[in-house]
Amino acid sequence: MSTAEPILLTPGPLTTSARTRQAMMVDWGSWDDRFNQLTASLCEQLLAIINGADTHHCVPLQGSGTFAVEAAIGTLVPRDGKVLVLINGAYGKRLAKICEVLGRSFSTFETAEDEPTTAADVDRLLQADPSITHIALIHCETSTGILNPLSEIAQVIAQHGKRLIIDAMSSFGALPVDAQQVPFDALIAASGKCLEGVPGMGFVFARKESLANAGGNSHSLAMDLFDQHTYMAKTGQWRFTPPTHVVAALHEALLQYNEEGGLPARHQRYADNCRVLLDDMAQLGLRSFLPAVIQAPIIVTFHAPKDPRYQFKEFYERVKAKGFILYPGKLTQVDTFRVGCIGHVNPPEMHAAVAAIAEVLQEMEVLEI
Ligand SMILES: Cc1ncc(COP(=O)(O)O)c(C=O)c1O
Repeated sequence: MSTAEPILLTPGPLTTSARTRQAMMVDWGSWDDRFNQLTASLCEQLLAIINGADTHHCVPLQGSGTFAVEAAIGTLVPRDGKVLVLINGAYGKRLAKICEVLGRSFSTFETAEDEPTTAADVDRLLQADPSITHIALIHCETSTGILNPLSEIAQVIAQHGKRLIIDAMSSFGALPVDAQQVPFDALIAASGKCLEGVPGMGFVFARKESLANAGGNSHSLAMDLFDQHTYMAKTGQWRFTPPTHVVAALHEALLQYNEEGGLPARHQRYADNCRVLLDDMAQLGLRSFLPAVIQAPIIVTFHAPKDPRYQFKEFYERVKAKGFILYPGKLTQVDTFRVGCIGHVNPPEMHAAVAAIAEVLQEMEVLEI
């Protein structure tokens, strides 16, 4: 059994660098100028990743990723708006649930979990229902790892004069999105994903005019991004207690992100991790759920072995004892498990993880894959 902390091969929280964790060893005063500068620098660096400084504001928000998604929908969709929610997995279903809870009118379009939504689908749906004002889309649907064709869908939405809200939680920072090429009203992500910070805050890139017109839309005091932004623009401070250590860790993680070579380098490392994972698992006979063309290099879903001696819980515990944390499957119809490619990990760790999986399958006498 390994004595070091296990490596997280999950979609977040994920493995962070020692330098990022070290950045949390300082206590910051929320009123302090130095902390306000940290927040401002964070927002500036985040906007640079999407080339969005001219067109979008970055509005950070305390909480997990879902808080930011809920805040974006609640703030940017007017109470008489209507959202078309595009679904091919659990996070898409969560978007619909958020609309329901917020009392926003919505309709859904669902494809199979291994079938991306297409621009043609969206074109047809928008022609059929002119009352739709906003479209909500998951970029990489983390419940499988499927990538939806964001650019094409965004173009069609713009041609119809409608507004796009993107949940890019598990893709932001690794998969390119240029705010000047891909029209959107909101793109949402969080600290503890591909930027390799720790969890605890989300952020929303909101189109400047849309945010300026969003006063009074929100159902919530704490999750009103209009108020959050207005207060921060005026004072440089967070409106309510900021997650100071999370901000400091994300700032440090961003320094490393830029030192590594920014988005192209991060994308390449994750793509390398993903390729090693797929190749090595294929050698064991373990098949991925998605075809390669729609697989994002973020997280991979594998079919569980058919052998009755395979039980996920025991498999998980044994692989963990060898130093790697895997993730359960999230599909209802097919028995699967997931392995993440993101975090402060490199191809050698991916090789080692699959070697651990091979040993465990042998120990469990799982023969039928
Ligand atoms: C696509 C997507 N949306 C939203 C979330 C938000 O989840 P949470 O609130 O657990 O951070 C996640 C988390 O992994 C995600 O992958």
